[in-house]
Amino acid sequence: MIIIAPSILSANLCILEEEIKSIEAAGADWIHIDVMDGRYVPNMTFGPIMVEAVRRCTQKFIDVHLMIVEPERWIEPFAKAGADQITIHAESCTHLQRTLQSIRQLGKKAGVALNPATSEECIKYVLNDLDNVLVMTVNPGFAHQKFLQEPVAKITKIRQMLDSAGNSKCHIQVDGGIDPKTAAITAKAGANIFVAGSAIFGAPDRAEMIANIRARAGKS
Ligand code: DX5
Ligand code: ZN
Repeated sequence: MIIIAPSILSANLCILEEEIKSIEAAGADWIHIDVMDGRYVPNMTFGPIMVEAVRRCTQKFIDVHLMIVEPERWIEPFAKAGADQITIHAESCTHLQRTLQSIRQLGKKAGVALNPATSEECIKYVLNDLDNVLVMTVNPGFAHQKFLQEPVAKITKIRQMLDSAGNSKCHIQVDGGIDPKTAAITAKAGANIFVAGSAIFGAPDRAEMIANIRARAGKS
């Protein structure tokens, strides 16, 4: 199943509701919200109040990507705000399994994100606690960065690890520099969820861009 998740980091926030309706009409499956705290990454963005606002504008699945230190302190507020999935960075969390478990206990899907330099080994002992593995194809913090090729090799390894642990339903998501071309590359390696910010929101025709990403991913 291919899922396209536009990141509202690249939306025009002055007209957020219109922007959400526009990507919905263009065929988006999920809404991706990038949460940054100015500590884990050198940028600051949204808090639970933003997730709550987006929740009021859409029925779509809300995919929250936490790029923050001590994510365990913020799971409940984001869950209550209306997140459907919460993804945390492996290195941001001292007790990774406990935090993943707490996300699922709140009835939400749980994900782990891996930075470009982070090894797939860090999820070796939590493979069955996961609904999503996010492979970062840029260093987290900003939209519109250049796609990194090196993390692609990790995707295939992660797919094998999940399948042999009996968790073949777990998604593999890619985030950073995704466009039709890089969607094809990462889909071939085994990714099935495609986060895209600038490629979708910056496209003259968003529906065409989403359809292109989906088609290129589907062919791989
Ligand atoms: C980066 C964020 C991404 C970002 C993607 O830290 O996690 O979701 O918005 O933006 P593009 O698609 O422009 O690389
Ligand atoms: Zn993201």
